[in-house]
Amino acid sequence: MRFETLAVHAGGESDPATGALSPPIHLATTFKHGPAAERLDGYEYQREGNPTNDRLCAALAALEHGQSALTFASGMAAISGLLESLNPGSHIVIPDDCYTGLRILAGEFLPDRGVRVSTIDVTDIDALRQACNGGIDLVWVETPSNPRMKITDIRAVAEISHAHGGRVVCDNTFASPALQRPLDLGADIVMHSTTKYFGGHSDVLGGALIFKEAGEWFEQAAHRLHITGATLAPFSAWLTLRGCRSLPARMNMHCSNARAIAEFLDKHSSIERVNYPGLPSHPGHAVAASQMSDFGGMLSIELRGGKSAALAMAGKLKLFTNATSLGGCESLIEHRASVEGENPTSTENLLRISVGLEHHEDLIADLVQALD
Ligand SMILES: Cc1ncc(COP(=O)(O)O)c(C=O)c1O
Repeated sequence: MRFETLAVHAGGESDPATGALSPPIHLATTFKHGPAAERLDGYEYQREGNPTNDRLCAALAALEHGQSALTFASGMAAISGLLESLNPGSHIVIPDDCYTGLRILAGEFLPDRGVRVSTIDVTDIDALRQACNGGIDLVWVETPSNPRMKITDIRAVAEISHAHGGRVVCDNTFASPALQRPLDLGADIVMHSTTKYFGGHSDVLGGALIFKEAGEWFEQAAHRLHITGATLAPFSAWLTLRGCRSLPARMNMHCSNARAIAEFLDKHSSIERVNYPGLPSHPGHAVAASQMSDFGGMLSIELRGGKSAALAMAGKLKLFTNATSLGGCESLIEHRASVEGENPTSTENLLRISVGLEHHEDLIADLVQALD
């Protein structure tokens, strides 16, 4: 079945009790069981699973070509659910350009647990090979990366990591499975902030892990989630499942709008650099073209004139809202260095843009007036 068809139908069986096409939201925290705690209809307690969430997990696994999926209360809960299960003495690689929360978690919390973290440019395959020498447990990939839009060759990373006995996890939040399916390219686990393109409307927080195999890693992560309790609420699962239905259509428009904006900004004299993998001048363009079906709705720009020029532009925009997050219908812009905490990795002249679903000509007109 093709992706668009799966997106509409996966986890979408009509309700057996009523025939309802929109799935019921099961808010029950507890389910009737037998006298010796026998599960009569498959469920016992909401933290350990509920029918609305199971539909979402089935849809996510189908869309990412995985065997099983787990959902979490946020993307960060999914990331920490996985990384905090690493044994003391483990060695992991994380990318030098990645979501700030991962960088802070890896820098502040993992070393206390005896986990060694190497932060490298994962797009540099020789650097990765070197980092893996001597043993590796996990390589984290985020492609395209937040916020510099670096592109990592998932196939090459998987080959090297696996040869050294390590797993590969790919944060696929920016691309979504509509554009890139890392499990098909060799990754073992896909991670999502479903808050973003899956939700699609800036109104639901969530995270997910999708496993290539329903094996030991999945069982361990499921056990950990059920005990530590960062469970996705049923209403959030329902909203995210609804988002799956329109994901391919929305991604098409995010991509075409972002391409038009990237091409416009690339020619503008006030802009030093446009980071968008769809531009042939982007250093990761060829790899992106080989592993993505389109280049996504995210980009970042670096302005001539430093921080003051970046803030002036962000302040003048009318259709692009100054706000964090991404993947919603509305276009957002953000000065990343201002929100990245104590030691920002973004340069002061960088603005990150989440291109929404408005008409691209209206968005470009807004950029024109803000840059003049
Ligand atoms: C690429 C990426 N991964 C993970 C996260 C964390 O997700 P959440 O905010 O849902 O916890 C974010 C949030 O912006 C993100 O952009």
